[in-house]
Amino acid sequence: MSDSPFEPDDSAADGNAGMRKDLTSYGDRGFSLFLRKAFIKGAGFTDAALDRPVVGIANTGSAYNPCHGNAPQLIDAVKRGVMLAGGLPMEFPTISVHESFAAPTSMYLRNLMAMDTEEMVRAQPMDAVVLIGGCDKTVPAQLMGAASAGLPTIQLITGSMLTGSHRGERVGACTDCRRYWARYRAGEIDAEETADVNNQLVASVGTCSVMGTASTMACIAEALGMTVPGGASPPAVTADRIRIAEQTGAQAVQIARDRLTIDKVLTPAAFENAMRVLLAIGGSTNGIVHLAAIAGRMGLDIDLLALDRMGRETPVLLDLKPSGQHYMEDFHAAGGMATLLRELKPLLHLDALTVTGRTLGEEIERAGPGFRQDVVRPASQPIYPQGGIAVLWGNLAPGGAIIKQSAADPALMEHEGRAVVFENAEDLALRIDSDTLDVAPQDVLVLKNIGPKGAPGMPEAGYIPIPRKLARAGVKDMVRISDGRMSGTAFGTIVLHVTPESAIGGPLAYVRSGDRIRLSVANREISLLVADDELARRAKETAMVEPTAERGYRKLFLQTVTQADKGVDFDFLRAPDTMGKVPR
Ligand code: FES
Repeated sequence: MSDSPFEPDDSAADGNAGMRKDLTSYGDRGFSLFLRKAFIKGAGFTDAALDRPVVGIANTGSAYNPCHGNAPQLIDAVKRGVMLAGGLPMEFPTISVHESFAAPTSMYLRNLMAMDTEEMVRAQPMDAVVLIGGCDKTVPAQLMGAASAGLPTIQLITGSMLTGSHRGERVGACTDCRRYWARYRAGEIDAEETADVNNQLVASVGTCSVMGTASTMACIAEALGMTVPGGASPPAVTADRIRIAEQTGAQAVQIARDRLTIDKVLTPAAFENAMRVLLAIGGSTNGIVHLAAIAGRMGLDIDLLALDRMGRETPVLLDLKPSGQHYMEDFHAAGGMATLLRELKPLLHLDALTVTGRTLGEEIERAGPGFRQDVVRPASQPIYPQGGIAVLWGNLAPGGAIIKQSAADPALMEHEGRAVVFENAEDLALRIDSDTLDVAPQDVLVLKNIGPKGAPGMPEAGYIPIPRKLARAGVKDMVRISDGRMSGTAFGTIVLHVTPESAIGGPLAYVRSGDRIRLSVANREISLLVADDELARRAKETAMVEPTAERGYRKLFLQTVTQADKGVDFDFLRAPDTMGKVPR
């Protein structure tokens, strides 16, 4: 072995670690290391610093992302944790995606963020990585990318925003955003009050304060074992959140030393635990799409039939909006995920490994006994007797569809009605508020062409607004069906993710206004009451043209995006081999 500090040492256990890791290709490895060190020393680093385990910190702070507005404080704390544990923190930027600042929809960019994360984690020298994410698509994008990159990885959640107060009423994004907007559309509140509440709905930086997709993914990340214990719930602006960040930094050094790679954590047992938690928290329907995408990176398919079976034995225990009444900061005060996991213990795989190097069961024990609180219900007194999400099948959705039954109107869950069809989002915008729209409260609103390829990007347009004339007459909910998604903060009797989507010739494409549709959540059925031969005739006479693009990311997206049941990931990003289904 050479004594040169610039000679890569393949014989040593750490020969491909720290700053020596995956050298840039110049044809001369010694020179590559020499050059790398020269450049990093330009930033003032010493050899002593450069000899430590390197922890990358994916910085997703952005002026366009208020949900990550605390990123600078989190990064400081992660760095402190890394250095206290003897590592070298190296912050680097990746794409950041916010729900309200990404056109046409954040989902269109999730896979791009996943690719960015994967390739930057792989390309740059680091022994472990801390992923700072929070807003809806960021955590799934980071976990997808990191799963493919294969390094020791820890997720750090940015944390939820605080709630605000509007004329004496507690409000928070975004269930209350939708509620107040619906009241404005119905003429119940004027423009002045609407402007007032607009100032209060987002009371601080951080992610949406209800059980929307961000909170769902935070809970799922902890259930997967990808955060330090208690990492899901502390609000963004609290000392608890900063302490979690410091612990995350320190633990990142430990997993770098232990070579605790992400594949040891993201196991089938971990995914089953995450599915269980998704059901028990009344989580966002988006959670299932993201879980399918993350699992796909590990070569696993989410079994929707089994998810539905699990749902029948997993009650909703978490009393958070939109299924219940509380907000994320209340969940944190109630003990956070430890309280929920303790209650779910008989249904969990307790031997699943977490990023602490301990099992989920050990972490539940370490969290100690629970205390009196009213946010997480005991299994004997659930918010909803079954899991929040039910999976539907039928001739309208041969590949499945989803309904968030815990946020639906019980009176509409067994329903048959006349279809009122909108061909796409533009058609909806044009006609939904027209006084001449032929629609009645018992009708079924159908929106086509908002699936993965149709829109493209499967936007959250599945929360079809109640037609204005019906809203003004006091109608609060109707059965609505689409191949799109809806925000986890939304509520209503809304059938989503109809697969296959209409843009590629799924049966939804052939529904016509006036057709009868039957929804039976009890029977898990979504059926178009039109004879098969009539549907075949309609299919024959419809000239189907799949969406295409001439160049760029849109072309890549349209050529390779998969359907909802496969997570809307790009087909070439999935693991090449399928290892099986989860749950097993
Ligand atoms: Fe970022 Fe809701 S908009 S979490």
